[in-house]
Amino acid sequence: MSGAFPEGFLWGAATAAYQVEGSPLADGAGTSIWHRFTHDPRLMIASGDTGDVACDHYNRMESDVDLMKRLGLQAYRFSISWSRILPGGTGRVNQAGLDFYRRLVDRLNDAGIMPLPTLYHWDLPAALDDRGGWLNRDIAEWFGEYAAVMYRALDGEVRRWATLNEPWVVADGGYLNGVLAPGHRSIFECAIASRNLMRAHGRAVQVYRELGRHEVGVVFNIEPKYPASDSAEDLAATARADAYMNRQYADPALLGTCPPELREVYGEAWEDWSQDDLALACQPVDFVGINYYTRSVVRASDTAWPFYAEPVVQEGAQHTETDWEVFPEAMTRTLLWFRERYGDIPLYIMENGAAFADPASSAGALIADDHRCRYLADHIAAVGDAIAAGVDVRGYMVWSLFDNLEWALGYAKRFGIVHVDYETLERTPKKSADLYRRIIESNGTAVAGAATEDAAS
Ligand code: BGC
Repeated sequence: MSGAFPEGFLWGAATAAYQVEGSPLADGAGTSIWHRFTHDPRLMIASGDTGDVACDHYNRMESDVDLMKRLGLQAYRFSISWSRILPGGTGRVNQAGLDFYRRLVDRLNDAGIMPLPTLYHWDLPAALDDRGGWLNRDIAEWFGEYAAVMYRALDGEVRRWATLNEPWVVADGGYLNGVLAPGHRSIFECAIASRNLMRAHGRAVQVYRELGRHEVGVVFNIEPKYPASDSAEDLAATARADAYMNRQYADPALLGTCPPELREVYGEAWEDWSQDDLALACQPVDFVGINYYTRSVVRASDTAWPFYAEPVVQEGAQHTETDWEVFPEAMTRTLLWFRERYGDIPLYIMENGAAFADPASSAGALIADDHRCRYLADHIAAVGDAIAAGVDVRGYMVWSLFDNLEWALGYAKRFGIVHVDYETLERTPKKSADLYRRIIESNGTAVAGAATEDAAS
């Protein structure tokens, strides 16, 4: 059951540049690693989908903000494409790229919608990848330079900046498993990229303290790990999985330490961080963003390299189209755990949502995405429970505003509360958008009604 959401609680929706903008090379932008990855002749993305058009948000930004206003959004979380701003990653600034984001934040502010930009949501300038990308220690300075350009240009209009989105996904998907750009597969590289990500985050926070006047934070994906049994082996496997996915990034940033289990996880690929690197990563932040989608149940495994831990599928539980177990209680647990481990930092849910196969709409009717309605209502209620238990959660952003390019899964998986017809690019709010509008209008109290309504239908 939902607790009361505090006055001023911020309700919004999220997207990311490469997933929605389209026109990735327009107006002098440089190539990003995602443009390269989706155009790789080896077909890194099985479907062949690219971000060339995506939702065409780059050309439809004005009417998209009007739509956000009609949906009642109070905040819009988006990311900035580094290679639109600095085509070569460093050096020359592309004024046309800056102008796009200036027009976006101005239009949002005029509409009374708070802009919540993230500096890095995975689309590294390809020119920097050619210099080693996240494997090059200089990236902390490159990221600091880019961050400074953005703060100088927009800190008057933007009150809350995030540095990185989900460093774990960048390192794990991009450097260990190769399923995301730049598509490498090396545990040695994964360890190096992880460290440089957090050094770059720290550098961007330092730069903000020199130039900015508002708030800066970082966004982590947190997937709580539950042991499959009480056996010592399963408990140890769960601790390894948790250290690798959750604490690997939050500990250095917020505690200035690395989880000890990482030595075991990385084996010979692990190198202890120097005191200087830990100090750089651990800069005081004004808030932390948490992306929560699912939990995972973990058991020990002799063969599951490199963690010797593997997920146990929960038979009988509801799963989304991306095979993620629907488990709202873990949202509450995540928030309680976060406060207990890292202290009383203001938290924002920066992403939460689900891909489901939406039913077709009959003429004039909303797309009845009842599974998504239920998912959102239950997870928002779970956030309310954490707030009732005293956790300082200040906002909630649905992932996603639009159906969009779900990275390596292409356009097949739809997370939007707004349907996008990829032929006509027409936007049609789904039933979940209507529910979310009511939730926002009632500052969260419509959640309880939504769960009952759905159960009765
Ligand atoms: C990412 C989004 C992604 C979503 C759903 C998050 O990890 O930040 O870009 O679309 O999850 O997979």
